[in-house]
Parts: sequence; structure tokens; C-alpha cells
Amino acid sequence: MAIRELRYEGDEILKKKSREIEVIDDRIKQLAEDMMETMHKYDGLGLAAVQVGILKRIIVIDLYDDVSKFTLINPVIVEKSKEIVEVQEGCLSYPNQFGRVKRHAWVKVKALDIDGKKVTLEAKDLLAQALQHEIDHLEGETFKSKILPGTFEVIKPEDEQE
Ligand code: NI
Repeated sequence: MAIRELRYEGDEILKKKSREIEVIDDRIKQLAEDMMETMHKYDGLGLAAVQVGILKRIIVIDLYDDVSKFTLINPVIVEKSKEIVEVQEGCLSYPNQFGRVKRHAWVKVKALDIDGKKVTLEAKDLLAQALQHEIDHLEGETFKSKILPGTFEVIKPEDEQE
């Protein structure tokens, strides 16, 4: 396992669309492990491969609640609620930046797991939000472009404050 280098705001790769994964080979499995480790190192809740410079449709999510830990390949939102919620978000590619965005309150996602098995997830609350955020990354979309007017803020952790 290895920590991968994160890509940050201003890096054009973050605006590119990721490609479908056709074969889950050892390189993809290694990528998935490295992404999970990298996300944990930076205390993220989710990470898309594009954020470590790989334009492939794979995301990892961990909400640190013992059940919401996923590696999803080629995830697709197949159903979503009409109900929209406004939620606070940040992103490992945009350190210390936060803002409110609109998300569907509930989504149903189909994907493959790391063994290539078909999985279906129905998610609400934070998991639904994380899925939409990470799947946006696969389309080259970031939360930054969705921030509602007047809600953007920069919050630095205490050990970085002067
Ligand atoms: Ni993000």
C-alpha cells in the first residue's frame, strides 16, 4: 500500500471526465487500496481516482461508522429523490474550503465492488451526499462550482492558524 499524491485546485485534471473500468486487474486493486489509505491519511470521507491523477471511474468512501466503507467501480446513480437538501461540503482537493451545496436527499447507486460483483446501494443523509460528490468528480465536476452564493468559507485547522 502507498499514499498517493493528491491533486489540488487549479490542476486541470480535476475537470476531466474519467473512463469506465473494463477489467478489474491487480493495478486497479492496488489503486483502490492506495486510495483508501490516502483518504484515511487526510481524514477524508471520500475520494475519486481523478484526485490522485488517475482518470478511471473508481471511488472510495468511508464514513468511519463501521458500516459505510465502500470501494465502488463504475458507479452510476440510477434513481434519486425529488427532495433536495442543502448541505455543507468540503473536498480533499480544496483544503480548508467549505460551502453549502444542493444534493438529492436520497440516491440509489449501482456499481461493481472490487471483486467485480454487482452492488446496489440505497443511501440517504451523509452517504447520499458523499456518493453524489464523488460521482461528480468522475464527470469532472467539483463541489466548488456548486457552492451556493454567500456560503463559501475558508476554515483552517487550529494548528495551521497564526
Ligand atoms: Ni471531492
